Amino acid sequence: VRVAVLGAGYVGACTAAVLAEQGHRVVLADPDARRAGAVRRGEAPAYEPGLGDAIAAAVRRGALGATTDPVEAVRGAELSMLCVGTPPKRDGSQDLRFVKAASRQVGQALRGQRGWHCVVTKSTVLPGTTGGVVLPAVEKASGRRAGDGFGVAVNPEFLREGNALEDARAPDRVVVGALDEASAKAVWALYEGLACPKLTVSLGTAEMIKYASNAFLATKVGFANEVANLCRAIGLDAEEVMQGVGLDARIGPRFLRAGAGFGGSCFPKDVVALLRLGERERAPSRILKAVLGGNARQPLEVVRLARAALGSLEGKRVALLGLAFKPDTDDVRETRALPIYRALRAAGARVVCYDPHAGSGFRALAGSSVRLAASLGEALDGADCAVVQTEWAEFRALPPAEFVARMRRPLVVDGRRTFDPKAMRAAGVEYHAIGLGEPARSARARP
Ligand code: UGA
Repeated sequence: VRVAVLGAGYVGACTAAVLAEQGHRVVLADPDARRAGAVRRGEAPAYEPGLGDAIAAAVRRGALGATTDPVEAVRGAELSMLCVGTPPKRDGSQDLRFVKAASRQVGQALRGQRGWHCVVTKSTVLPGTTGGVVLPAVEKASGRRAGDGFGVAVNPEFLREGNALEDARAPDRVVVGALDEASAKAVWALYEGLACPKLTVSLGTAEMIKYASNAFLATKVGFANEVANLCRAIGLDAEEVMQGVGLDARIGPRFLRAGAGFGGSCFPKDVVALLRLGERERAPSRILKAVLGGNARQPLEVVRLARAALGSLEGKRVALLGLAFKPDTDDVRETRALPIYRALRAAGARVVCYDPHAGSGFRALAGSSVRLAASLGEALDGADCAVVQTEWAEFRALPPAEFVARMRRPLVVDGRRTFDPKAMRAAGVEYHAIGLGEPARSARARP
């Protein structure tokens, strides 16, 4: 299939690379000349493990090209995929500026063209958006009518940043929402080789599946965080508890890792958007409200643990390790490192930050006064406490003795259960973590 992918963010770039890998001919369009240029040179426009290699291979084979002109990309294609951003507005509702612009560009490209074309929304949009916003915008700009002039579909993406290529190559399921049979057929032609469950639904249902999935996963993490805080309070290890819980096939073991809260470009934004939709439609979600409230408090739990161990944070040198919202990405959107950093600073700590990839992104977010260490070792040197916010493999690989050798006080507060408590303590590290209670406490406790 000849595909135009509009938007070379991580979703667009990964989707384009994998579609090209699977035998389709793809042109990636992004008005940002740096992104388009990177793809043309065979490089990744965004940091994502394996993406550079996948793009380089596809470009070399002539299966993937890039342009800054979306109209040109769509003119040569049978199907276009909207992979543009849907940032939140101040009130949490969706800003559809980019979706509308991309729809208009598709329409312009279709004007005067002969062949049938299918427009597919891959951006995460609220139920009703593809039918109520994308479709009329394409109709208006093209002068054609949906149904006979062109097809419309929704194909939500379930990629996780950091695992995006694996997720795209072997998804758990593919969902297609389609206006009509021809539109559904056009999208399924992209996924012929995949053996996973495939679901064909209406446009709105596909849009809602994406939101309900993210909101449920965020709720799962939020619940795990609450259980973890309780476990710590009563002297239990939440990791062990959740291991037992996750063995129930109805629950499943994934997304039960407690931590400093969920961040990223999807969970926080999607939960807010769904919450707002529920309020507007008079079907409010009490659960999602609580999930967001808990997620706002959870990073402060990490700061509380540091304060409890140090007595006061005033004047203490704290190494904040991990600024990306999760490992294997340089993405700092909604990172829990920001509230942790601010709370540490507000309490008077001298904070030195380190992240293998997200340092400059975090500085742009948190302000130019952010002190960035050039290496993990430099961040730890002379620190009174290390707070771990992202569970990077680089941190895990550090021998526990290094904390003792480098830090003024070898105190580690682990917001992501990055380390093995036994190994850390055996090496002489004072180790505290989310969800890790002191067994002595539970042994003494009486119900
Ligand atoms: C999420 C979904 O997992 C994807 O399925 C979806 O496609 C994507 O949003 C999207 O809508 O585009 P992503 O935001 O890349 O993917 O990252 P996740 O791996 O889901 O992690 C989100 C946050 O939850 C991170 O801050 C992570 O640290 C946190 N998390 C995740 C936990 O605290 N505990 C867990 O057990 C899992």
